[in-house]
Amino acid sequence: MSDGRNHEVGGIPVGSDAAAYFRHVMAAVPTSVVAVGGRADLDPVVMILGSFTSVSLDPMLVGFFVGREAARWKMLRASDRFCVNVLDETQAWISEQLARPGEPDLSSIDWSPSSGGAIAIAGTVARFDVTPIAEHDAGDHLFVLCRVDYLEEPTGSSPLVYHDGQYRGVRVPDSG
Ligand SMILES: Cc1cc2nc3c(=O)[nH]c(=O)nc-3n(C[C@H](O)[C@H](O)[C@H](O)COP(=O)(O)O)c2cc1C
Repeated sequence: MSDGRNHEVGGIPVGSDAAAYFRHVMAAVPTSVVAVGGRADLDPVVMILGSFTSVSLDPMLVGFFVGREAARWKMLRASDRFCVNVLDETQAWISEQLARPGEPDLSSIDWSPSSGGAIAIAGTVARFDVTPIAEHDAGDHLFVLCRVDYLEEPTGSSPLVYHDGQYRGVRVPDSG
């Protein structure tokens, strides 16, 4: 299998920056916004991610992609378990606050230890307690594979979506 490194990508308009064009096309793909919290008994660290995904049903596995050089991941990976908090549509401010580089600012964020002892944020749509079990190379990112340890009943409220460079809510399309 090719590693893709020397592969020439088609469709990029002449004269445009390839990476910027890739970002532009990817901006059309909506994502959820999750706040992955580390262990509550260590320095509180949370990282905002749009790349959280379900991986396997049996065994139950989830995962996400982190920038290889992301300083926040270097802080978070000191934890041997995480709480994945799926943000609610009213929580864009939490994403903005926690996505800033530097020390994570948890001031004014209501959190408590999750069942697995990681940072659980109040008012989120769904929460998963997970244990990281592997890191795989994924270009300039790493794929972090996690075992699911504990599932909370989702609240049923509307999730936050990131699309076209903006935070949005979910809108039910017109049926007609
Ligand atoms: C909506 C949103 C989605 C993001 N998704 C990811 C992601 O999937 N992977 C990642 O490494 N960083 C992602 N980030 C960036 C990190 O949250 C954070 O801003 C970045 O790690 C800060 O840089 P630093 O870690 O070098 O300090 C996302 C940021 C936002 C606002």
